[in-house]
Amino acid sequence: MGQYERHVFVCTTGKTCAAQGSAESYAALKDAARTAGLKGRVRVNQSGCLNQCGHGPMVVVYPEDTWYAAVDADGARRIVAEHLVAGVPVDALRYVAPPGDNKLPKEELARIEASASPPSSRTPDSPGGTAR
Ligand code: FES
Repeated sequence: MGQYERHVFVCTTGKTCAAQGSAESYAALKDAARTAGLKGRVRVNQSGCLNQCGHGPMVVVYPEDTWYAAVDADGARRIVAEHLVAGVPVDALRYVAPPGDNKLPKEELARIEASASPPSSRTPDSPGGTAR
């Protein structure tokens, strides 16, 4: 066994996953894992682009090599409860694609990146918003 039972990577620094809310997914995963008592057994890390751009937020769990797509905060909490705690991957969020790179076409990626609202325009009620 390695240093941890499982290692979870969340693409947060790739442009499109970030535009699709991966920071919130990462925060939810970290928080749920800590609450579930997984600290020291499961490591949750931010990652760079996983070359599946446009399908995000992308999450991958090792050692099972289980990939998840479109993981929002609720999905992140399901991954913790069902996969990391109970040991059963969340089929509803599984990412099924051919091996290797699977980026959407450039035009679609540009549209996703442009659709993300800058942090300064967010309100407490919008995704990523903060209470004042
Ligand atoms: S931006 Fe997340 S996979 Fe590329």
